[in-house]
Order: sequence, then structure tokens, then C-alpha cells
Amino acid sequence: MTIPSRKQLLSSFQLGPWKLPNRMIMAPMTRSRAGVGDAANELTARYYQQRADAGLIISEGSQISAQGKGYPGTPGIFTREQIAGWKTTTDAVHAAGGRIFLQLWHVGRLSHPSMQPNGQLPVAPSAIKADGQIYTVEGPQPYVVPRALELGEIPGVIEDFRQGAENAKAAGFDGVELHGANGYLIDQFLRDGSNTRTDAYGGSVENRVRFLKEIVEAVIPVFGADRVGVRLAPALNIFSMSDSTPQTTFGHAADVLSQYGLAYLHVVELGEVPFDFEELKRRFGGSYIANGGFDAERAEIAIETGRADLVAFGTRFLANPDLVERFRQGDPLNTPDPSTFYQGGERGYTDYPALHGPGSAR
Ligand SMILES: Cc1cc2nc3c(=O)[nH]c(=O)nc-3n(C[C@H](O)[C@H](O)[C@H](O)COP(=O)(O)O)c2cc1C
Repeated sequence: MTIPSRKQLLSSFQLGPWKLPNRMIMAPMTRSRAGVGDAANELTARYYQQRADAGLIISEGSQISAQGKGYPGTPGIFTREQIAGWKTTTDAVHAAGGRIFLQLWHVGRLSHPSMQPNGQLPVAPSAIKADGQIYTVEGPQPYVVPRALELGEIPGVIEDFRQGAENAKAAGFDGVELHGANGYLIDQFLRDGSNTRTDAYGGSVENRVRFLKEIVEAVIPVFGADRVGVRLAPALNIFSMSDSTPQTTFGHAADVLSQYGLAYLHVVELGEVPFDFEELKRRFGGSYIANGGFDAERAEIAIETGRADLVAFGTRFLANPDLVERFRQGDPLNTPDPSTFYQGGERGYTDYPALHGPGSAR
């Protein structure tokens, strides 16, 4: 039985070709537990399989190239080994009746020579560094000034995204999400605080959205538009991100994205600057996933009032493999343990107890 205050959240929803059993999305979360060659492994598969009753799982960010990597232990999607590693996860999720998208990721300037091929500088739209420190194998180090991508290199990066989608398909994913949020490469192109280019990819809002647009257009033929989603975080200024007119910039991005019949727009509704997310949803026009600090009650209200079609949960899914059933029955939740977010093997990964379903206590 579903408790009445969760009715909308636990109702089905037609997303692209799928009738999702509920409107709960597992948000993408980096867990830094990839194995040899940055390949997802059996443990990854178990973690995602435990959470397969989500309406849709969005995987942790998966780098599309060696250049796109910025953290130890994140799983890639550009080698044969990495494709095979992820196949174990998609098989496990499908065997449990779930659906899973891969999040395609390029970190841009948020990397470090110690993590780049041949100790090269990380790349970005412009040679502007992020403040603060990056976690490397040698401990925390300051971010470096990245190298601005040359105009002639940009098609190659777009091709890496397209190939990443191709590889995700080969690995059995149901679709892909482009990581355009949280200060990584696509976001760096979108905002004028990190993009001061004077060519076709910088300056006007149209030019700054061009990189995202061209990636979307490259990836759509691989999966079909209804299996491609985009994630944005318009108001979030982490990693030294800023924009002089966020509503205009991201409003234009939403207009552009509205043309393709995409699976969804996924928006991190957190941040430091005022932002009208409802306007963004209206301008996009398609399925809209809201994320950021939602509990069951707020999620229910968001769906009921039409503010969102679906809600993505991060830390709550991380700590509760049976989150859907807990919400359905109004049970208390496990508390997430931040000390094992990005390390710890099985601990804090596959060992959060379930109250319901396989492996549950009763
Ligand atoms: C451990 C951890 C890892 C994350 N990794 C990613 C990631 O790889 N890609 C991404 O877009 N967001 C990432 N996020 C952000 C989450 O998807 C989400 O936006 C954030 O946790 C806020 O939602 P919540 O309040 O429901 O947890 C991460 C968050 C956490 C806690």
C-alpha cells in the first residue's frame, strides 16, 4: 500500500520509450571505486542493481577520454575494458527490471597534470583557473591554469562525446545524460566567467551554447533524441563558476534544447544566485527532472504542482538501496556516511541495509 502523501511520486510516467513505474530518479553520483584501467566492475554492478527499482538510474559521471578525467577511480567509457566493465552493470540492472543511463563526462579545467596523459595541462574554453584545490594521488594541489582549446580541437572533443555515446550503447545503456552541470567542461563553455573566447564558441549567449548544441546533435543519431538527456546547474557557482546573466544564458540553452525532443532536462535546483527554474522548465517544454535536497514530501509537492515531472534523489538513494519501498511505506531512512562517498570498497557502497526486498532485514 502506498501512503497517500506519496501518490504522485510513485505514479508511472512515460519517459521517451519507457513507462517508468515511478517518478523517482537516482541522481548521478561519483563513487570513485572503479577497478583496473578505470573500469566499472562486479561491485559497481551490485551497487546499481540494488537500486534498480528507481524509475531511472543515471550513472555516475564517466569520462569520455583520458583528457576528460579529473578524479582518481572514476570509471571511463572510452576503452574496450571500460565498455566490458559497464556491461556487467547494465546486465545486472536490466535483470532486476530497471533502466540505466550513462552520464557522459569531461571535467575540462577541473583536472591536474598528474591525472592527464603525459602530464599535460587540462583543457578548457579559456585559460582561466578555478580557485581552490584538487584531490590528487599526491594529496591536495592547487588547480592549474588550463590550456584553452584551439578552435580546431573542438570537433575532436565533440567526437569524443559521440564515441562515448556509441560505447555506452555497446555497453548496454538505455541512453545517455550529458553532464552540463557543476562546473565541468560543458558548463565552462556555457558561462561567461569561464568562457572568454572570441571565436564561434564564446562571446554571445548563442556562441556559448554552441558547444552543448553540437554535442547534442552529435549524440542524438547514436541513441535517438528520446534516449538523450541533459543536466544543467544554472545557479550553482561551485568551482569558481559564474555568469553575468544566468537566466538569459540558461534560458537560451533551454530554448535550443527544446527543439530536439530530448528524453529530459535534468536541473540541479541548488545555488548561490536567484534563479527562476519554472521559467526554464516552461522554455524547455519536455520532461523535466528536478534535483537538489528533495525529500519525499517536497518531491510530491513539486510533481503535484507541476513544478517537475520527475525528481532525482542523490544522497538518499546512495544510502537507501530500497528508497522506493521506504518512501512507499513511509519508513525511516538510513543516514548517508560522507566519509565513504568517494572511497571504501563495499563499505558505504553496497552494505547499506534494506528494509524491503532482497537482502532485507525482515
Ligand atoms: C557522492 C556524490 C557524488 C556526486 N557525483 C556527481 C556526478 O558524478 N555527476 C553529477 O552530475 N552530479 C554528482 N553529484 C551531485 C548529485 O547528483 C546531486 O545533484 C546532489 O547530491 C544533490 O542532490 P541530493 O540533495 O538529492 O543529494 C554527486 C553528489 C554526491 C553526494
